[in-house]
This record gives sequence, structure tokens and C-alpha cells, in this order.
Amino acid sequence: MNDPNGLVYRDGQYHLFYQHNPSGPGWANMSWGHAVSPDLRTWRELPVAIGGDRDAQIYSGSAVVDHHNTSGFGTADNPPMVAIYTAKYRSGRQTQSLAYSTDGAATWSKFRGNPVVDRRSTNFRDPKVFWYDDGPSKRYWVMVAVEALDRKVVLYRSDDLKKWRPLSEFGPRGDYRGIWECPDLFPLPVDGNPDRVKWVLVVSHNPATVDVLPPAADVSPKLLKGTGTRYFVGDFDGERFTADGPPEFVDEGRDFYAGVTFNDAPAGKRIMLGWMSNWLYAQQTPTGRWRGAMTLPRELRLRTVHGKPALVSRVTGPLATGGRKTYSRNGITVGRGGMRLPVRARTYRVHAEFTHRSAKSFGVTVRRSADGTERTRISYDVATGTLSVDRTRSGNILFGPLFPSVESVRVPLRAGALDLDVYVDTTSVEVFAQRGTHAITDLVFPNPSSTAISVDSDGGRTHLRTLTVTTMD
Ligand code: FRU
Repeated sequence: MNDPNGLVYRDGQYHLFYQHNPSGPGWANMSWGHAVSPDLRTWRELPVAIGGDRDAQIYSGSAVVDHHNTSGFGTADNPPMVAIYTAKYRSGRQTQSLAYSTDGAATWSKFRGNPVVDRRSTNFRDPKVFWYDDGPSKRYWVMVAVEALDRKVVLYRSDDLKKWRPLSEFGPRGDYRGIWECPDLFPLPVDGNPDRVKWVLVVSHNPATVDVLPPAADVSPKLLKGTGTRYFVGDFDGERFTADGPPEFVDEGRDFYAGVTFNDAPAGKRIMLGWMSNWLYAQQTPTGRWRGAMTLPRELRLRTVHGKPALVSRVTGPLATGGRKTYSRNGITVGRGGMRLPVRARTYRVHAEFTHRSAKSFGVTVRRSADGTERTRISYDVATGTLSVDRTRSGNILFGPLFPSVESVRVPLRAGALDLDVYVDTTSVEVFAQRGTHAITDLVFPNPSSTAISVDSDGGRTHLRTLTVTTMD
């Protein structure tokens, strides 16, 4: 799998469609796979929802519940679900097309009037559609899509999902070259204040194209750094998006791409899933029969950080609250050299609240082998104020020259303290610092037997207010 597609909630179920090759673990034969979950923790796999055919592959897009049956695909009593996806034709042309379901997403039919938007472009894709409602005279569907090579987001509106007219364009913006993919646009209150709403435009930045991956040697460090999902904060008046400043990363790790959010999530929540990989090596990651996974679901909020609204993200649902508390201590001092925890695990969450003492650096090491030679280190360097995730000794790293990496992010301490939340799974670490102000997601491929965990303290002592390990099935 690659990108999450058609994220939508309906009648107690989260629907996750995704870019999928039904016949192998490499990128080809793009179709929409489908899985459902009541709680974003346990997923049930369903048959392929929208299959590619001889004419066109089914690239990324979104899905809506057409509550008022504006499309006429259903009835007032049985509102249809409508998927808006990119049809990528053999000629190279990319257009936006529809498929609909009137049986609660079990079966899908392609619309006979496809395509619904055609710009005669070979790089027009990844439509995200949502219902815009600013009072009776300003209610319609809005589509954001990209002209990928031009690094532009193009906006359209429609009353029935079938006829679309252009609204505006945004971009190119920011220092980044590469291409733009997978946009999303949504409102969020700042600091939870409903009277202060800002709009967030999400765009994934990619140094490579899916069809032609450049050889590793051709990828400049500048492009490398830009890989990932970014966002602009600004305003949207129903026609045009204006940004307040340059883009920031949603997640500063190497493996958070194509992040998009659910339509109609309960309680007005904004929940994002990303594809946990990177086109620089996505086709090379070690695998058996499958390749590709989603990140954990994250609830997004806007919080004022250094005087500006910034996106913060935290794992949501039973993944964040469930599990078994295997180790829990308050008020620990760790001496020079660190401390091994009496826990061995592969899937768990570590929550640590460090209050600094004399150490030059401190942190946690996960997926560590008995002799310590294999390890993934999450460490904070006091002198530079940076948090790093180092996967250069994390296990199998040699499958792709661009895989071994150290992500370093500036993270200010708060009253001398660092709050660290780390979710570890069989082949991933997802790190959240200062209550979601920073996120770093990285794939790792350790030996299954590398299950030790340690708290590290180098060059002095470190104090922890709390330390908890929660193991999960
Ligand atoms: C992003 C992307 C999208 C495209 C899809 C094809 O990863 O390149 O732009 O729709 O993947 O699988």
C-alpha cells in the first residue's frame, strides 16, 4: 500500500481506503484497497473497493457521505457515499472521476459521466473534497487537488459533485523544489477557541515522482530534506486560500507521507493518517508478502507556539489510552551510563517526562539487542537543544542507500523539562515531543529479538518525573 485515500467516518465506522497493488508488493496496478475500524485500533480488511482497469489506474483521492444526496446517486433516505479519485489513463492523462456506493461502502460503481474534471494535464491529481458551509448562500462542495509539477494547489467548487468550476489556485510557495501531492484543507480553532478559527492547507512534498524514481545519486540533500507532509496556516473564504507564512512539517521524520484527514469524524475531531514510508526507498524496504503501512491515527489541533498557531498531533483513541502498564515509576534519577528497564517488548508506548540535571544528553533507546549493538536512539542534546532519532544502527539498514538517517529537530525545553511519548511497533517508531508539538516518524527494521529498552544519560545525571511503559498486543 501507499497513500491513505477516502478517509471518511459513517455509522460507527472509520473507512480507510488506500493506494493498493492487489497483485504484489511493488508499486503497480493501482486500486483502492479498503479496511474498516470502529475505533482506529482494530481493522477489518475488505475486498478491493475500486479496481483499476485496462484504461486507467485508480490514484489517490477522497470520499464523502453525500448527506443531502446532491449527486442523485442515492436517495434522501439512503444518502450515497461518493469517492472522488484520480483516473490515471494509459496516455498519461490524469483526470478526476467518481465512484459511488449505495450499500454503505460494500460495493462501488464508477460514474458513467467520468471524468468530472479534466485539465488535459498529466499531473493533475489527488482530489480532496469536503462540504463547505458558510450560511445558506454559501454552501457547496470544495475540491482541492494538485498540479504536481507546478507545485500548485487548484481549487474547484460544485453543487452536485458532478459539475465543477474553478475557484482559485495556491502556490508555488516555500523553498522547496520537487513536486506537490495529496493536498487537504480544513478549519481548526486556535487553542480550542471557536471564535478564532484558522484554515490549514496540507501538501505533501516529494523529490521523486511515482512513475520515474530518480537514482539515489541524483537526489540532492536539499530535496532529501524536503520529503514529507507540510502545512500552511492561513485563511479560506470559500474561494481562495491565503497563507500567513511559510510551510512547516506535520511530522519531521522520514516516514510520514501523503497525510490526509477523515471527513465527518465524530465530535468535530480532525484525525490524520499518513503513509509510513518515503518514495526514496519505499520500493526497497525489506518485506515478505506485503509492503507499506499507515502511521498511527493522530488528532490534529492548532496551538499557539512562539506566538503563532502551529499544528500539534497526538495519537488518538484506544491506542493512546489502552494497553497494559508494564512498568511505571515516578521520580527517578538516572546516573551516568543510563539504566536498562526490566521490560522486553516489541509493541509498546514509552512515556517519559525528563527534568534535566547535569547530563549533556539524555533519552530512551528502543528495539535494542542484548549486547546493545543494534538500537534505535531517541536522544536530546542539551547544548544544541535538539531531539534526534538515530536509526543508523537500527537493524537492517543496507537495502537502500538513503535509508540510514539521523533526524534532528530543535525542541525547546519547557521549564527545563522534556515530555516524550514514543510508540514502538514491529517496524516503526513514532515519537511525539512536548505534547505533540513535534512528531518524528521513522521506519526501522530490527531483529525480532531486539526487544530491550533503556533510559540514557550521558555526561551526567538525569531526573525523570515519570516513566511508563505500556505494552500492547
Ligand atoms: C503520492 C502519490 C499520489 C498518487 C499516488 C499514486 O504518494 O504519488 O500523488 O496519486 O501516489 O499511487
